[in-house]
Amino acid sequence: MLQPRGDRKVLCAGLICLDILSVVDHYPVEDTDNRIERQIWQKGGNCANSAAVVAQLGEQTAYFGTLATGRAADMVLDEMREFGVDVDQVVMHDGYASPSSTIIINTSTGTRTIIHADNNLPELTLSDFHKLDLDQYKWIHFEGRNMTEVAKMVDAVQEYNRSRSMEDRVIISGECEKAKYHPEHFISTVDVMFVAKEYAQHHGFPTAQAAVEGFHRRVKKGATVVCAWGELGADAMGPDGVHHHADAFSPDQVVDTLGAGDTFNGAIIAAMCRSLPLEEVLKFGCKVAGRKCGQFGYRGLTIGE
Ligand code: ADP
Ligand code: FRU
Repeated sequence: MLQPRGDRKVLCAGLICLDILSVVDHYPVEDTDNRIERQIWQKGGNCANSAAVVAQLGEQTAYFGTLATGRAADMVLDEMREFGVDVDQVVMHDGYASPSSTIIINTSTGTRTIIHADNNLPELTLSDFHKLDLDQYKWIHFEGRNMTEVAKMVDAVQEYNRSRSMEDRVIISGECEKAKYHPEHFISTVDVMFVAKEYAQHHGFPTAQAAVEGFHRRVKKGATVVCAWGELGADAMGPDGVHHHADAFSPDQVVDTLGAGDTFNGAIIAAMCRSLPLEEVLKFGCKVAGRKCGQFGYRGLTIGE
């Protein structure tokens, strides 16, 4: 069981963007003119979404990423502040557009179809990361993207940790989702590795159980592997090598699965910050993620464990 150090923040480093959701009751046919049920503009990005969930679940939380100066950035940063996330360390770039996603939410199936524009915004660099004061954080969660720089950031945290006692270390987690970003550096370095279904399947694992068992053999000693698998719930294996499974918690109606994985990751981090047993951590993650699937957006996800 992890024992995150004292009263410090959880930092989530990765993407933030503007999500424009068009909610429809059937998926549109190509080259037809359609009307939507509603449109929602909200902050998105795996790490920004996870940070908003961690903050709601009671942890002091900070978000670290890049944005372009302008109205889109103002909107998403305001929303992050409303969730109680500290965004003071966000790196702003002039002369660019912020990333955004156009998303079709089909309420008849609960699916989300994402078209993402990164708008060539510069990603975080090691020199941005060096400006952080690592003493402020108990946990740093990295999204598996921009891996050349992120790998250096992970190494910098490990370097920081080497001069500290076990109890005084920053816990590192990494999300392996998109294989195209090659997040493999996380396998040998992080304390908690989040393996998404997409990444597990890319590596030939047909189930969450197979994925946690397979990756557990390769992670560093003492690490935990967690793998979510949509409506089949999630599995995990901690340092003791015991396999755990939690079923998904089905809401009355699945209306919006956008960011279910990000919500799950945030809830797992928050539960681990409370040092709950892994089985409870997993159940809690599924509960919060299931609730999210039954509603639009990420508000009101606070539930008891
Ligand atoms: P992603 O958003 O990365 O594709 P998943 O689809 O694997 O993530 O979902 C993450 C978690 O969200 C699952 O472990 C599950 O607990 C919950 N979840 C996802 N889809 C559903 C669903 N249709 N019904 C209930 N829970 C779901
Ligand atoms: C959901 C999400 C969206 C964003 C997209 C980027 O997981 O983070 O908020 O638009 O993925 O790939």
